[in-house]
Amino acid sequence: MSLGTTQKPLLSTGSFSGFHSNLELSNGGYMTAEHKRGQPLCGNREGWGPLSGERYDFTPCFMDVWVAAVAVFGLFAGAIACWWLVRGKARFVVERNWHFWVKQVIIIAIAASIAVQIVFQILSYPDVWAGDFRFWSSVLTFASLGVIFAIQWLEHSRLRNPNGVALFYWLLLLVAYSVKLRSLISQQIYDKSLGYFVAYCIGFGLSWIEFGLEWLVPKKQSDYQALEDDDECPVEYATVFSILTFSWMTPMMRYGYKKYLTEEDLWNLAKRDTTKSTATAFQKAWDRELENKKGPSLWMAIFKAFSGPYFRGTLFKTVSDTLAFIQPQLLRLLIQFVQSYAEEDPDAHEPVIRGAAIALGMFAVSVAQTTALHQYFQRAFETGMRIKTALTAAIYSKSLKLSNEGRAAKSTGDIVNYMAVDTQRLQDLTQYGQQLWSAPYQIILCMASLYQLVGFSMLAGVGAMILMIPINGLIARLMKRLQKQQMKNKDSRTRLIAEIVNNMKSIKLYAWGSAFMQKLNYVRNDQELKTLRKIGAAQAVANFTWSTTPFLVSCSTFTVYVLTQNKPLTTDIVFPALTLFNLLTFPLAILPMVITSIIEASVAVGRLTSFLTAEELQDDAVTLLGPVDEIGDESLLIRDGTFSWDRHTGRNALEDINFSASKGELTCVVGRVGAGKSSFLQALLGDLWKVKGKVVVHGSTAYVAQQAWVMNASVKENILFGHRYDPVFYDKTIKACALTEDFAQLPDGDETEVGERGISLSGGQKARLTLARAVYARADIYLLDDCLSAVDQHVGRHLIENVLGPNGLLSGKTRVLATNSIPVLMEADFICLLREGRLIEKGTYDQLMAMKGEVSNLIKTAGNQDQSAESEATSSDSSTMIDTDNAEDAQKQEEMEEAQERLTQLQPIRPGAVQE
Ligand SMILES: Nc1ncnc2c1ncn2[C@@H]1O[C@H](COP(=O)(O)OP(=O)(O)OP(=O)(O)O)[C@@H](O)[C@H]1O
Ligand SMILES: [Mg+2]
Repeated sequence: MSLGTTQKPLLSTGSFSGFHSNLELSNGGYMTAEHKRGQPLCGNREGWGPLSGERYDFTPCFMDVWVAAVAVFGLFAGAIACWWLVRGKARFVVERNWHFWVKQVIIIAIAASIAVQIVFQILSYPDVWAGDFRFWSSVLTFASLGVIFAIQWLEHSRLRNPNGVALFYWLLLLVAYSVKLRSLISQQIYDKSLGYFVAYCIGFGLSWIEFGLEWLVPKKQSDYQALEDDDECPVEYATVFSILTFSWMTPMMRYGYKKYLTEEDLWNLAKRDTTKSTATAFQKAWDRELENKKGPSLWMAIFKAFSGPYFRGTLFKTVSDTLAFIQPQLLRLLIQFVQSYAEEDPDAHEPVIRGAAIALGMFAVSVAQTTALHQYFQRAFETGMRIKTALTAAIYSKSLKLSNEGRAAKSTGDIVNYMAVDTQRLQDLTQYGQQLWSAPYQIILCMASLYQLVGFSMLAGVGAMILMIPINGLIARLMKRLQKQQMKNKDSRTRLIAEIVNNMKSIKLYAWGSAFMQKLNYVRNDQELKTLRKIGAAQAVANFTWSTTPFLVSCSTFTVYVLTQNKPLTTDIVFPALTLFNLLTFPLAILPMVITSIIEASVAVGRLTSFLTAEELQDDAVTLLGPVDEIGDESLLIRDGTFSWDRHTGRNALEDINFSASKGELTCVVGRVGAGKSSFLQALLGDLWKVKGKVVVHGSTAYVAQQAWVMNASVKENILFGHRYDPVFYDKTIKACALTEDFAQLPDGDETEVGERGISLSGGQKARLTLARAVYARADIYLLDDCLSAVDQHVGRHLIENVLGPNGLLSGKTRVLATNSIPVLMEADFICLLREGRLIEKGTYDQLMAMKGEVSNLIKTAGNQDQSAESEATSSDSSTMIDTDNAEDAQKQEEMEEAQERLTQLQPIRPGAVQE
């Protein structure tokens, strides 16, 4: 590149500092303007430029464009920030300390220095000033300082961190001022207009101080804010710079360097990331969608609740993509700059400042690009995480509200799948979603840049690349198939091994060892290893094509270039082109993935929508009121109730029920198998669809289901069930529920882990465990479903005396017991008989006996069968005893079984009693 005769002065002014004492080019200069303006709004001789024809510098008018741009940013972004501060932020009482006043006074001082500069500008070109951009740029700066003053005033009582607009304003102003200062020094403005120069330098220096004060000196906090919890995530009050550089993470990183980090060391989640806030945001959006006549759209709900930060991420992504393509252009310029020094003729050399500017530019571009890219990632990942937590919470709360019909359609496995798989799909989509526009955008930018570099030869490279995509795609699909196959092989191997280990004894006894060995060898060697080998080969081919693609692409492009064009293939083409091809591989590779992930996500959204719109429990099925105080007050009421398990079939589970129970009463509901006893209790819980009638429940309810339900935790945790441990009441509960002896028998007492679904407990133990849990919950109303059926008569009596009966632990509560046990009926205050879903008899024990109806029949027949029933109960009970005694040693177990059989014939055994 040759610059001709003007090159010399340009070169000598193009040093790094711009200072040149010998040069008297200063017939123009910053502080001059002429009458007859060559260009609109610029009175300076050098015009708008942007580069001056005489010096290696921007023209004076253009120099102020930078300053004015910062001022305009301050004015507009600042105004928005003020509005946001006033409208969106709560005010606290914060003392105005020295820091605040110093900052505000300095702003006034800076504004004063600018006012002085304006005066000098008017004096220097008295007739032209009003028509000159330099004057107006100073005015704009003056005005923007006013806005920044306002921001800093408002933020003091509203924010814990300095406002981002103010920080950026100061940073950008300093950059613009530094560039201008270099130019002013280079023009030796202090010779001609010392006053202006001094005012400028004062303003510049004060701006540095102001920036430091605003950014680095911590603001005075209000007393309220100072009380915030210790584990608060620093991102909540991090400054803009800290967010952009992630420096708020530094303390954690440093700590992690010194010590192995555990979960306790981490900060709390930022408030906006907690499930509480994401779930409420989603629920709000989803509720609004449910009102939509055309049917709810999960996409819209997610979009409304979480798209804000995500689309701010889009901005960052655009910046990052664009900057990625500026880098090769700068590289080209830098190569040209270096090449100019290869020439013999010093006139052909380019000025040093140009090289420095390019290098600085490359640095700034790559810093900005990385920053933007990672801000984008941060936003995308955060959004994904929020969507996942919100959906998981929504699925969870929905699964609690599913009606019986809904529950029949969606199994627990389905629900777990929704939580684990489908939400994950949507989370993944947030990472790929932006690529949908970004990949084509990058491809277009890349093509354009390549075209500008090598012309149409680039098509050869792009063609080669596009050719490679299907090949890579094919290999990827092959790999996926092989992986699936491999998973199946692994499954069958583990299944086989589990089978072998479980039946080790039989295999050994029957000498099946070699047969199973062969089976295993077949699965392992002929299936698994073979597939593994295939996977290895496919992987190698994939690696080969993957690493040869860039080579093929550049090779074909440059071949075509050399063959078709007359220009030499120089380094300033080759290197930028290589960089561009490298950039091109990513979007081309990711596009197919984006499409799959969108398809997967839309399937997930379909499934989730159908789940989230599944039928729910009737929310007005039960009227919940506060607890009653006096013994004898009515606390449960069903009036004219008709209930159904499935409202679509029209079959009712319970019909015309009129029932009431009072505090302190034990009500027994009896009836044959399938008569509707459990349904009756569940109707009180609101699980059934109420066809008509009224159900009123006063106070909290504890329910013991017919099928004992235990968590996989220790016995104690199962009983406490999240309540506070109260040793006295806990002991009482244990004693009343006859669990003391069981605890003595269990390996770790009440700390014993019960295993999956209480596998290590007997049926009777589980039943009493669930009863104890209900008792410990200290509810007002107890709904107990057949909790006496799994225990023998002795224990049953114990439970009646200590828990259910008039002197039991629950004597002051409302108790409704569904049962087939006869002894307890005598203790009952009230008895109801259910048949085929109807209450056909009710009254006190004496009333019903006197009536000689079904209940008295039942009691009489039961009395006759008592003898035989007892022996049955004991034998069944003894068999459960073995379960609890998980003897590992097989021989011992067999001996015990023998002993057991003998014992059961001799006498009824009390559960929990240790047999010798
Ligand atoms: N979850 C359910 N969904 C649909 N129908 C149900 C459901 N639970 C019970 N039913 C039906 O309701 C009727 C009453 O059953 P329920 O369980 O209330 O009888 P039960 O009196 O408790 O019998 P058991 O003495 O065996 O416990 C039965 O016909 C049963 O088929
Ligand atoms: Mg039942």
